Amino acid sequence: MMQAIAAPDAGLDDVIEVRGLEAGYGGARVLSGVGFTVRKGAVLGVLGRNGVGKSTLVGALLNLGPTVRGSVTVKGHAVAGWPTHRIVRLGIGIVPQGRGMFPNLSVSDNLRLAVLGARAARPGGWTLERVYDSFPKLSQRRGTLAGSLSGGERQLAAMARALLTQADILILDEPTEGLAPLIVEEVVVDNIRTLRREGVTVVLVEQNLALALDLADEAIVLADGGIVFCGSAETLRRREDIQNEYLGV
Ligand SMILES: Nc1ncnc2c1ncn2[C@@H]1O[C@H](COP(=O)(O)OP(=O)(O)OP(=O)(O)O)[C@@H](O)[C@H]1O
Ligand SMILES: [Mg+2]
Repeated sequence: MMQAIAAPDAGLDDVIEVRGLEAGYGGARVLSGVGFTVRKGAVLGVLGRNGVGKSTLVGALLNLGPTVRGSVTVKGHAVAGWPTHRIVRLGIGIVPQGRGMFPNLSVSDNLRLAVLGARAARPGGWTLERVYDSFPKLSQRRGTLAGSLSGGERQLAAMARALLTQADILILDEPTEGLAPLIVEEVVVDNIRTLRREGVTVVLVEQNLALALDLADEAIVLADGGIVFCGSAETLRRREDIQNEYLGV
């Protein structure tokens, strides 16, 4: 039987648009001339070596500290200069590099804190029950202090916490850092696939090129203070020159 082939781009619009972005700290510029878009429901891989400015870019999107110039549009709102809490209320969840859980609070208290600050869950939105259903491993650990979790468990908890802010855009800053390959599959790969199926837009900052190419629809590569590649993951897979020069493979 003939299968209907859906055009992959049909109905997808941009939920984040970055134009002419400059970001740095005080007088020191880290990034300039950065422009890209993130399509609704897509996974964008953000790649680049240590220190090129990946976390600075994340910080610039959410106004988390860097000095920013240029335009950042989230769901049609020009958010440059907005306080972080207003930007995240547009529906962006962040899993910061290093996970950022409160170590002396239990998993369940960490998650409840996220719910406190969040807008109310829409029908079908993320609730504590749904999170524990979707991540049964986390449910087993709900009484454990976050500081006593393994790296993989902490990553899972940080993802859950970000979803509980009612995010439909999730920014993950190096979620696989420090995780064994098996845990990377179980915690990061499987769950990002699940989120994608559920329509969550994902910005995935990664140094693991193979993993990023596997999960991402599009990718940008940062180097030398700007973007040196912007295109489909498929194209980047073929661009061994870019991989060799900027990603050290
Ligand atoms: N708060 C800060 N104040 C001053 N400089 C900073 C600050 N945070 C980062 N930098 C500098 O900005 C540059 C980019 O750092 P950034 O953390 O964005 O890199 P990264 O690509 O995320 O690296 P990694 O892969 O190691 O996480 C580095 O030179 C870093 O030293
Ligand atoms: Mg970083």
